[in-house]
Amino acid sequence: MKINLTNGLCLVCILSIFNMACSFNNSNKNAMAAPKITTQNFGTFEGKPITEYTLTNGSGMQVSIINYGGILTKIITQAKDGSWGDVITGYDSLEGYVQKGNPYFGALIGRYANRLAKGKYTIDGVTYKAAINNHGQSLHGGLKGFDKVVWNASILPGDSSIQLDYLSIDGEEGYPGNLKVQVVYTLTANNALQIAYTASTDKTTVLNLTNHVYFNLTAGKSPNIYDHLVQINANKYTPVDTSLIPTGELLDVKGTPMDFTTPKKVGQEIDQVAGGYDHNWVLNKAEGLQEIAHVYEPTSGRYLTVATTEPGIQFYSGNFLDGSLTGTKKGIIYNKHYALTLETQHFPDSPNQTGFPSTILKPGETYHQTTVYTFSTK
Ligand code: BGC
Repeated sequence: MKINLTNGLCLVCILSIFNMACSFNNSNKNAMAAPKITTQNFGTFEGKPITEYTLTNGSGMQVSIINYGGILTKIITQAKDGSWGDVITGYDSLEGYVQKGNPYFGALIGRYANRLAKGKYTIDGVTYKAAINNHGQSLHGGLKGFDKVVWNASILPGDSSIQLDYLSIDGEEGYPGNLKVQVVYTLTANNALQIAYTASTDKTTVLNLTNHVYFNLTAGKSPNIYDHLVQINANKYTPVDTSLIPTGELLDVKGTPMDFTTPKKVGQEIDQVAGGYDHNWVLNKAEGLQEIAHVYEPTSGRYLTVATTEPGIQFYSGNFLDGSLTGTKKGIIYNKHYALTLETQHFPDSPNQTGFPSTILKPGETYHQTTVYTFSTK
């Protein structure tokens, strides 16, 4: 075949377009590796094997979870200078997590997140008593809450999600009904950790699930969170009495240290709040999943966005950390205000507060809660 100049040029064009397409595909492959999940033996608890699952996404972010307490053991994200660091508190091994006084690092919380006054509540005229574990109150599910049980774990297709299942039997920790709970942790390609909870019961019960992960976005470079800038979309909060039980009021944050409607350093007014922040904010939101809080740490440039389906958030500034925990990651001393939590939830003590959104779950209903923590840099 005789190739004239024009045809020859066209052939070169086609070949180079083909080459470009190939190299684009290759570079794309390098930038976005497929997600993967690896597993590691993490010891045994009550004779059951505990495994650590590590989810890695295409950009290299990692989230690790164990089936004891459904605990998040690591969240490794990138700082603006390109370095990687673990932004949550925890321990080097299972011994750390099972120690008395472990303040729920990374754990799933249930059946009832935060406090129930004196553990008591009434459903259809019957008074129940949840296990007391905190100065006469019931905190985070009682003596052996969902943070201290072994969950059944499975890897979901696609290598981005871990599913945890737990059956809480009728009467466990003073709660009625056999409750089937499922939690799916997903690490997305855009650096979001999604936690999706579902549950159902065979008797009317109360339910308030959350995760108690503590963040220090400097990844251990600062021993406190005073310079973290927090913003919470909430015009009101639920004040508490000296036992940290809500008084039932919804107070305006305006003009008080509780005002985080615009970004504010945690350290700016923390001295004006006895012990530090440990309150539930009433989120300005409609039903459904909505972005409701942000945390920015200027030295690392890390930026955390929180979205949730829940009506409230417990912003806790690590007030009870006192440096006494052992077996901590790299021996870090977790002193007061080392890290903060943003626990998405229904309001504390709701079963005893007529003015708060209901936490009742009836047979035939399905409980849903979704929370997404997204990491980026600025
Ligand atoms: C509570 C604190 C409690 C802490 C336990 C938080 O959710 O609001 O009062 O001390 O959990 O680590």
